[in-house]
Amino acid sequence: MVLVTNAYLLKKADEGGYAVGAFNANNMEMIQAIIETAEEEKSPVILQASQGAIKYAGLDMIVAMVKSCAERTKVPVSLHLDHGTDYEQNVRCLRAGFTSLMYDGSSKPFEENVATTKRIVDIAHIVGVSVEAEIGRVGGTEEHIVVSEVEALMTDPGEAKKFADLTGVDSLAVAVGTVHRMMTREAKLDFDRIAKIKKLVKIPLVLHGASGVPDDGVKKAIAAGIRKINIATELNKSFTNAVAKAIKDAPSEVDPRKMLTKGKEATKAAVREKMKLFNSCGKA
Ligand code: G3H
Ligand code: ZN
Repeated sequence: MVLVTNAYLLKKADEGGYAVGAFNANNMEMIQAIIETAEEEKSPVILQASQGAIKYAGLDMIVAMVKSCAERTKVPVSLHLDHGTDYEQNVRCLRAGFTSLMYDGSSKPFEENVATTKRIVDIAHIVGVSVEAEIGRVGGTEEHIVVSEVEALMTDPGEAKKFADLTGVDSLAVAVGTVHRMMTREAKLDFDRIAKIKKLVKIPLVLHGASGVPDDGVKKAIAAGIRKINIATELNKSFTNAVAKAIKDAPSEVDPRKMLTKGKEATKAAVREKMKLFNSCGKA
């Protein structure tokens, strides 16, 4: 199947009351793992690449690998830029064939976030590509954010509505208690805040930093209105731990395919678990 947009996938998720997993991939094996699992589970899927992944693998290489895998499946796949930090990065991904973009201006003043998001929305919509933006701020563990700071950075529902109205953006990443790159599932979400934003903002809501959210928190977040759930750290952990174990178990093995296959299998298991949790299986 040809690539579809996030707007298409998330509209269906909103109608069906489930969430679509947005999985970060850094290499060929992770891309294969994510799309093969989507096919096996008959689940829609968003394959996302961060700027770091683009720098590592190359922009055209990522597009070619994702398109090649997507063309061989019957399930709808979107290719999304994760946390694009400037206008230029979004333009490069638009030209390269991404079907969904993200501008993360969450650390910028409100007016600047609105202005740059709108510029990107204006060009992306000419060619039918979706745009996600972020309001409020989902920090990272390396920033050593404490609980009181997580609360201070949470999305204000009124501001979210104003932002959505002013930009015409297709989906909105909201800060509701998660922190990026958590290694344990301990995040405490503000479900009332999600519900309040959902009531005011009519576009699909996105949960970032979801590796740190316990399963019951994920279920409640979906019930409150979250429609796209980003998972990166948990896949990285699964892949790397499996490769490390494979090397430890067979120290004289030199065929990289043997090690990387273990990483791919572990990634598939992690993706499958999340798709079941998000209730997206069978929805393709
Ligand atoms: O944008 C990517 C995500 O929000 C993933 O966060 O690494 O905490 O799963 P995570
Ligand atoms: Zn994120």
